[in-house]
Amino acid sequence: MGVEGPGRVFLLGFMGAGKSTVARKLADSWGVNWLDTDRLIEDMVDLSIPEIFEKEGKPAFRKLEKRAVRKAILMEVSVIALGGGAPLEDESWRLINDYGTTFYLQVSPREARDRIGEEERPLLEGLSEKEKLEEIKELLAEREDRYREADFIVPTVDRSPSEVAAEISEIVEDRHGKTFRFSG
Ligand code: S3P
Repeated sequence: MGVEGPGRVFLLGFMGAGKSTVARKLADSWGVNWLDTDRLIEDMVDLSIPEIFEKEGKPAFRKLEKRAVRKAILMEVSVIALGGGAPLEDESWRLINDYGTTFYLQVSPREARDRIGEEERPLLEGLSEKEKLEEIKELLAEREDRYREADFIVPTVDRSPSEVAAEISEIVEDRHGKTFRFSG
């Protein structure tokens, strides 16, 4: 009998939650591959995320994101950092749950705002400081129910990415033992 594993590990949550940083740390410590669906989308169309929003619009981006989730699941990657909006698409969400274990990296609106800093984020484009925070609060409130459907909720405020990664490792090892293997 093979060693049971978590399937793929999916990290989800709002922009600024630290999904990619934590994904990289987990993959490094487990010696497996990881990817970020935003980077996959950029590779698929050879445009940056802001360029896609600008040239093709949000609905086109969401379609690409849906394709990227399907594609990521077929690839040899064990840890997948999902774009903030990816879990909202019902078909993607079903697929994600069929193929692995989900971790919601929880961040407060204020902390998300601080971590995003001056990075370009299409959803916050053209907004004043005050409006950005309001928009983050609204989007997070709209999304929170879906995010909370994740298998595990991991707080990230006042914690380093290494601490967050350590908690996820512990959860996976508690469930599957230290010698678990990734499947799929
Ligand atoms: C988005 C989050 C971004 C990116 C796009 C839209 C969202 O990804 O996919 O700007 O809808 O929350 P990150 O969560 O990786 O920043």
